[in-house]
Amino acid sequence: MKNTIFAILMVWLLTGCSAPVQDDFIGRSMDVAKQQAVLMAEYLNKYPDRLPRTYNPSLDSIITSNSKWWCSGFFPGVLWYVYEHHNDENLKQLAETYQARVEKEKYNTYDHDIGFQIYCSFGNAFRLTKDETYKDVILTAAHSATKRFNESIGLIKSWDSRPNKWQYPVIIDNMMNLELLMRGFHLTGDSLYYHVAVNHADSTLKHHFRPDYSSYHVVSYDTLSGLPHAKNTHQGAFDESIWARGQVWGLYGYVVMYRETGYERYLDQAVNIANLLIDHPNMPEDKIPYWDFSAKEIPNTNRDASAAAIMASALIELSGYVDTSLKEKYLSVAEIQLKTLSTPEYLAEPGSNGFFILKRGVGHLPAGSEVDVPLTYADYYFVEALLRFKRL
Ligand code: GLY
Repeated sequence: MKNTIFAILMVWLLTGCSAPVQDDFIGRSMDVAKQQAVLMAEYLNKYPDRLPRTYNPSLDSIITSNSKWWCSGFFPGVLWYVYEHHNDENLKQLAETYQARVEKEKYNTYDHDIGFQIYCSFGNAFRLTKDETYKDVILTAAHSATKRFNESIGLIKSWDSRPNKWQYPVIIDNMMNLELLMRGFHLTGDSLYYHVAVNHADSTLKHHFRPDYSSYHVVSYDTLSGLPHAKNTHQGAFDESIWARGQVWGLYGYVVMYRETGYERYLDQAVNIANLLIDHPNMPEDKIPYWDFSAKEIPNTNRDASAAAIMASALIELSGYVDTSLKEKYLSVAEIQLKTLSTPEYLAEPGSNGFFILKRGVGHLPAGSEVDVPLTYADYYFVEALLRFKRL
């Protein structure tokens, strides 16, 4: 033992006492996440039923929502991940308190966002605690999610709005609801959940993608023929553009569907999307995508931290399903993304940034809404990705 310590001391002295100190970016960022999440929870304590959405820096105002907003499950999910990392009972209690504000969305049949709302909150709760009451919430939600599935079209309808423009709109984001359905299938064995999830994934694969594997944001289906009658964008730069967050919702969704079914066609789709984005000439060196890969203003336009966080999380999981050279490619991109997001350019100073963890997200740029601001979903996928990277 004495000899070992002596040897370490000698190496240290001979190398000039300056061995490089590795940046523990995961530990640092998870500490910021904990501080911000606790501050946010304290702030929201006086606003019953409200959940964080974003922050308006010029007014120093935290923008909240009720549970119906698609983002309501993300803050409880952040609390569960922070609890998982720090193993602090206080964080568990906060997660339970804030997810209770979302629970009624288990009956949501008014849009497709139930997967985000319930799986990011109660899905993590059940994963970490195995509490049967959380399982019941997941199963009720999975059942609700099947209600928006049309058998002859083979897809879950996203929105009921704008019926004059879209008969049966399905957005690429909808791929993110399939994990809830697949959990419903695995927990009950009821093939309805599997049927809905696999049909949705297959129909999306067929109609939502261009030959280069980029995807449209909105595809609307003719309710008589069951075929697309419109392919548009809602939040992207233009109909044929490569809206960054839409691409990474698709990537993440097919990674999940490969994990849940083992079908190679989903793995191939995920690999093709990942390669398109990583090799795209408009992907910056620091791997934080512009809000739209096709934005005419590049490089003089906004980056989207949320797209980077979602992509990093998906790439880390995907790296576990591919050969060594792709694995290295995906992990090196995810690592750059997480390290960049852990710099002061993106990571908040505790106590600032409306108690959100990340800065610089883009919600809906064409509408001038939520541009260069924190977004609760950027925080969620960032902490998820950090913990996935830590587990490697
Ligand atoms: N699902 C909405 C969004 O990604 O902005």
